[in-house]
Amino acid sequence: MTDNQTDNQIDNQKNNDTLRLNSLIPYELSKYAIQKNIKKIINISSGAAIMYQKDMIEYCLSKNILESITKHLAYQYYDKCIITGLRIDSVFKTEMSSKIYSEEEYETFLEPKNLIPIFLTILKMGKELSGKIYSYNRSKHNLYLETTFNNNFVTEYNLDFKDTDEFNGKYISNGENKFSNEYGKYPSDNSVKKLENVISNLINISPHNIILNDGGISNSFDIFCKHFVNIGDEVICQSLTFQPLLLSIIQRGGVLKLIQPTFNSDNSLNYNLENIITNITSATKMIYLVHPTYIYGDTFDIKYFKNILDKIPKNIPIIIDECYIDYFDSITNTIDLINDYFIFGLRTFSKLYGLTSYRLGYIICNKAYKTIIQNSFTFKSISTISINAVSKSLSDSNIYNNIKSEYLKEKIFLKNELYKLKIKFKGDTLILVIFVNDKNKIIEELEKENIIIPDISYFPNSLLYTIGKRNENIKLITIIKKFN
Ligand SMILES: Cc1ncc(COP(=O)(O)O)c(C=O)c1O
Repeated sequence: MTDNQTDNQIDNQKNNDTLRLNSLIPYELSKYAIQKNIKKIINISSGAAIMYQKDMIEYCLSKNILESITKHLAYQYYDKCIITGLRIDSVFKTEMSSKIYSEEEYETFLEPKNLIPIFLTILKMGKELSGKIYSYNRSKHNLYLETTFNNNFVTEYNLDFKDTDEFNGKYISNGENKFSNEYGKYPSDNSVKKLENVISNLINISPHNIILNDGGISNSFDIFCKHFVNIGDEVICQSLTFQPLLLSIIQRGGVLKLIQPTFNSDNSLNYNLENIITNITSATKMIYLVHPTYIYGDTFDIKYFKNILDKIPKNIPIIIDECYIDYFDSITNTIDLINDYFIFGLRTFSKLYGLTSYRLGYIICNKAYKTIIQNSFTFKSISTISINAVSKSLSDSNIYNNIKSEYLKEKIFLKNELYKLKIKFKGDTLILVIFVNDKNKIIEELEKENIIIPDISYFPNSLLYTIGKRNENIKLITIIKKFN
């Protein structure tokens, strides 16, 4: 300090020192420790890292920077050192807090020994925690889920809205329009549970492994991105995928790493799943695969698939889009895997059941994750009308059996016609991959008949045709006959 420094200048200097001390010094110390072959570093930040506090920006910023430094160092030195962050987002009884706060306030603070469970857990864990920032507050609520999901902010909150079925028959002041008919009601918890039970009977697993969700697969996928994808995080996907879902990754600043399937000489597909393993880096935060029933109606060989799954670090969630799985009675799917891997199956009523407009879907998962995922959907977002309609349809097997048999009839018709024309094709679901000589010409001619086929480049000389009604199928066959 010099004689002519003003109070303001002194304050500025102090603030800059705070910034340096709390972020750059740990950065340099961490790098030094890595150089000295230290195998594990835990950087301690605080709740200030994720809040704005008036007149404390240097302090808050320094904690925020420290968390970023932790992530980046962890990614860079993944193979040398496990670097992780612990965000202590509660005030504890410490020498410092005793000086800052009044005696009364100090008495309400937590004892430092409360930090032991999360601290010991981090100490025990391996590489899977590298680059993650664990929150004391969230761990206090559920330590297991904090170490598994890590990006979860929901379990901490108990919104305590007394709108559950527990209060049935009572007048609940819940903001519902009391003068309307049944459309004025939020869905009840029991109606959700009931539908989960119907699904459970249908697919033969416990309702504890089923989570009903609104918005179909599109929305459930978005929820997984919300949990696992932050800016710069990498997500491994197949290029043969349902492209619109990828937007959920991109919106969050995630980076796509695409695995390209290749064709075998017999036109079957090689999904090249080994490339998942070679594409995994320290920044990989999620893997999204579409079940092979999507295009070819086949499945992964279970041994081969498990061999790949065994090589994926257990902290990386694997999301399998099982949109078309209901067309098959027994085929490898996530139900066979949820107890052994960090894997989730996304399912929908949009396809076999023909209930697209109700926008319902469900997630298959290990029961340990049910609460956290269920709480990730916003308040009562599932529509009562959808629940009722889907429950009714699922409970009457005649409805979906009729749709299924009509579709099967058309599939047989198309397959026979294609055999007659000696046109090769693949596929065992709603979609047929039809191999033609001049794909562009046929797409063009079909368009004139108001049949629109997306031109997917990685299928050279093949049409991805969604089986339609007889009228459309005849148009397709006629055009192929004429122009192929
Ligand atoms: C592979 C795949 N996943 C997801 C979806 C969307 O499903 P949902 O209607 O449940 O959002 C589709 C729709 O065609 C799809 O083909």
